[in-house]
Amino acid sequence: MAKLHVITYGCQMNEYDSERVAGLLREHRYELTDRDADLILVNTCAIREKAEDKVFSKLGELRALKARKPELVLGVMGCMAQLQQGAVQKRAPYVDLVFGSAAVSRVAELVDRARRERRHVLETGEAPLVKLTARPPSADRVRAYVTVMEGCEKHCTFCVVPRTRGRERSHAPETVVAEVRGLVAEGCREVTLLGQTVNAYGRDLTPPTDLPELLRRVNDVEGLARIRFTTSNPYNLTARMIAAMRDVPKVCEWFHLPLQSGSNRVLERMNRGYTRERYLELIEDLRAAVPELALSTDLIVGFPGETEEDFRETLAMVERVGYDNVFAFRYSRRPGTPAADLPDQIPDAVKADRNRRLLEVVDRVTRARAAPLAGRVVEVLVDGVSRRNAGELSGRTRCNRVVNLDGLGRVRVGDVVRARVTEVLPHSLRAALQSAPEEAVCSSR
Ligand code: SAH
Ligand code: F3S
Repeated sequence: MAKLHVITYGCQMNEYDSERVAGLLREHRYELTDRDADLILVNTCAIREKAEDKVFSKLGELRALKARKPELVLGVMGCMAQLQQGAVQKRAPYVDLVFGSAAVSRVAELVDRARRERRHVLETGEAPLVKLTARPPSADRVRAYVTVMEGCEKHCTFCVVPRTRGRERSHAPETVVAEVRGLVAEGCREVTLLGQTVNAYGRDLTPPTDLPELLRRVNDVEGLARIRFTTSNPYNLTARMIAAMRDVPKVCEWFHLPLQSGSNRVLERMNRGYTRERYLELIEDLRAAVPELALSTDLIVGFPGETEEDFRETLAMVERVGYDNVFAFRYSRRPGTPAADLPDQIPDAVKADRNRRLLEVVDRVTRARAAPLAGRVVEVLVDGVSRRNAGELSGRTRCNRVVNLDGLGRVRVGDVVRARVTEVLPHSLRAALQSAPEEAVCSSR
């Protein structure tokens, strides 16, 4: 067998693509390794400039390796391959192969060409949507990602995704269900359905369908314990979807709903399609339907023209909503996006200062949300051994918090157990296994 090393940057969709590439190449006699590889693929992210910098610095490191081992095939795949193909070729001419997300299904053929012809291979065209189910055996068994739709057509003015991932294309529900069944047969208990605007799922299919319907169908897969989905866009969040959150039993009490900014003026300039008032209404409806719901969000500071007052409105929204988790980003100017050309770009120092102030508020708000968990009984899906302490198990609650707990030897990976929270730490919980789970009053969180 030849040796393959995949280095993945970016979002969960990239992790999924990397797994599929490894799965496909396995069928062509490549096994995964992290040293002495014959083929290295770097799966890239273009969402912010920093993500691209990381890739170029990695490619710089790999250059030396390639110099020592000329027969090594070096490939760049994913969003940066799509967006920055010229720049990759120019800054890293020693890269043998560059291909975009649409060409993932053809990876074996492309690698073969690069290897045989010993010349640069570039493939960034559109290709038909193919559902790949090949997975390498080393993939995380208990939890898995399943891409249910590709692309995005929202055109938020700051975002490159519509350029890197193309139009919205949904996978047929039967295909998704079949993939989930296959995963469950291999021991998977939790799936996260992925899409850039996952709640726009299905409207491009004939006949059209939607995410609530898909959730119901996935819910029927026997042996599966939990379903998550991400990322939802507030613009497409329907009452049907909120009802599905409440009614579909395996859907976890966890929702990632990017706000981006708390200021209506900025939201409009971002072309997000909702106001802060509408967003708050949605949160109210979600919480009325699912009182234990854990909420997370994405926020951008320093969008062009963002004033101190706009920024304070973002801070106020963090307090008002009471998020369980927040991903904060400094605005990054992306080539070809409308916001890149807006006047009033915000200086880095201001962005850094706002980011710091935002994180202070986030820290306080998220701690306050976590504190009441102490003493509660939570449902935990055990997914492995604790990273810090090999004598402990680790898992996640339905609300997606990491839990470390006792019970090694009594509980198996993949079991769903109940445990009482003994300690609330900044990024995780500690809990004690409940020996008589049927007597415990289970809280969904
Ligand atoms: N599909 C998701 C977003 C994917 S990108 C959605 O609907 O929101 C993940 C996050 O990266 C975004 O939510 C946004 O907060 C951030 N992001 C995207 N483009 C950015 C940019 N140019 N600068 C800073 N952050 C950005
Ligand atoms: Fe990007 Fe907006 Fe789509 S953030 S992924 S253009 S919903």
